[in-house]
Amino acid sequence: MLKTETADLWWKSAVIYCLDIETFFDSNGDGVGDMTGLAQRIDYLAELGVTCLWLMPFYPTANRDDGYDIIDYYGVDPRLGTHGDLVELVRTAKDRGLRVIVDLVTNHTSNQHPWFKAARSSKDSPYREYYVWRDEPPEDTSDEVVFPDAENSLWTYDEKAGQYYLHNFYSEQPDLNITSPAVQGEIAKIIGFWLELGIDGFRVDAVPYMIETRGVADRWAKEFGDPHVYLKQLKAFMGRRRGDSIMLGEVNVPYETMFEFFGGPDGDELTMMFDFELMQRLYLAFAREDTAPIIETIQRRPQLARHSQFANFIRNHDELTLDKLSDEERQEVFDAFGPEEDMQLFGRGLRRRLPPMVAGDPRRMRMVYSLLFALPGTPVLFYGEEIGMGENLDVEGRLAVRTPMQWTDAKNGGFSSAAPSKLPRPVTQGAFGPDHVNVAAQRQDPDSFLNFMTLLARRYRECPEVGMGNFEILEHDVKEVLVHRSTWDPFGGGRSSSVLVHNLSPRATRIKVRLEGVDEGLEVADLVSGERHTIGRSGQLELPVDGYGYHWLRILYADDSRLV
Ligand code: NOJ
Repeated sequence: MLKTETADLWWKSAVIYCLDIETFFDSNGDGVGDMTGLAQRIDYLAELGVTCLWLMPFYPTANRDDGYDIIDYYGVDPRLGTHGDLVELVRTAKDRGLRVIVDLVTNHTSNQHPWFKAARSSKDSPYREYYVWRDEPPEDTSDEVVFPDAENSLWTYDEKAGQYYLHNFYSEQPDLNITSPAVQGEIAKIIGFWLELGIDGFRVDAVPYMIETRGVADRWAKEFGDPHVYLKQLKAFMGRRRGDSIMLGEVNVPYETMFEFFGGPDGDELTMMFDFELMQRLYLAFAREDTAPIIETIQRRPQLARHSQFANFIRNHDELTLDKLSDEERQEVFDAFGPEEDMQLFGRGLRRRLPPMVAGDPRRMRMVYSLLFALPGTPVLFYGEEIGMGENLDVEGRLAVRTPMQWTDAKNGGFSSAAPSKLPRPVTQGAFGPDHVNVAAQRQDPDSFLNFMTLLARRYRECPEVGMGNFEILEHDVKEVLVHRSTWDPFGGGRSSSVLVHNLSPRATRIKVRLEGVDEGLEVADLVSGERHTIGRSGQLELPVDGYGYHWLRILYADDSRLV
């Protein structure tokens, strides 16, 4: 079977791992994670099966928004390392077969960025046009703010500038004026710089906010035209600089609008996007122990261009937003997974990680992550998920899930030898703290969650049909069990087809499905348990499924030459 496409379209069968260098591993004992520390842990990530690192912002920052408020797009936060350390880190990652993508945060800068300082100092500054200003007091935008705990308007009056400026996020994060050719030139230069340093692409922050023209003077907006044309230009520019680089966009909008951000059937805008819609429906399905929300959602996904791809996730670094659910549905998820007020955020999300939500039930955790790897798309892990880390609700807001990585059961979970007071934020305590959840112990235990996740990553990589192929939902009559089939036959060189089974409930059951075009007598191999099942008359497959059980069943076609 020809499999070269898995390398050419590498992002479609990648295992992406998001981490913040600051909280991953501290190599010099100053309390803050650093690039050298991460470089020392690359082997760990390679062993886990990660193929692409996503580095959260590591640039010089005013730290109002944990690095998402940048002061210098070309710099490296000196607490984390130097350019030299970064180059060594990227080189080490590449040597172990990992690509590296970095956050591109160009909807806004920090208000401490030299551009903003210059812009506010004078109307005549060439940097004035880099931001979005207005003279008149703004209309009421209190219901549009992203961080309602801190802001009540999208506009703030700047005394020095004598005008109001736009900020979709914190007031310390003034929005850039994307319609300005000078700003467009700056963004292109930033992209070019990091590509030149060997970076494989970008996780693009807040894309819909970035390309919108709200508040921009009419003359600018008119000249700028359709924002999607700009996104196409940016993508084309990146492609000219480096053909196999990707843009993974943060675009939390309904599917129809997402499709536009992909560039529609041409796929000439963002390469990938996080599937926020499916993530939210997964939690609803878990809460109800009913597959209907998953099936209904996944079938609504638009048909993408061959090289475009959805990115699936169970957890990211922000609040686990449930904004696309109805009030009643959101309440169901809150009741099931975060009933206390302190576990919720902004009225729309949860600030918990999955394991505490399911009281650490190992069967349920395994089923959820098996499903993450089995869903059509590319799985994205948030650091610590592979060992089942929990959150620390004593830490403020969204940061509750951004606690230090737990390497051992020693002081600070082995993250740093510094005094605990020097850490960016305290290590998680209690049942999910390092005494119970850490890498070192799980490495020694063949039955650990870490080893299970490693196995999942391996099986997913061995089944490119999951990420690269087409899928169909297989109908049957047990609503708690999701059965889907992924098939890939790129060049007619051999069929790869797998049937993925996931039981969302704790009750054992039996399922019976029909596999179209599969002959009686053919076998399927369970890639997790090693069991085999024989296909019955008219393609019937029947098998028992444990409570929270999961199966990765490869159809053993004669022309599928893969090792089982
Ligand atoms: C989205 C990021 O994920 C979030 O952490 C950040 O606060 C906002 N964008 C603003 O950059």
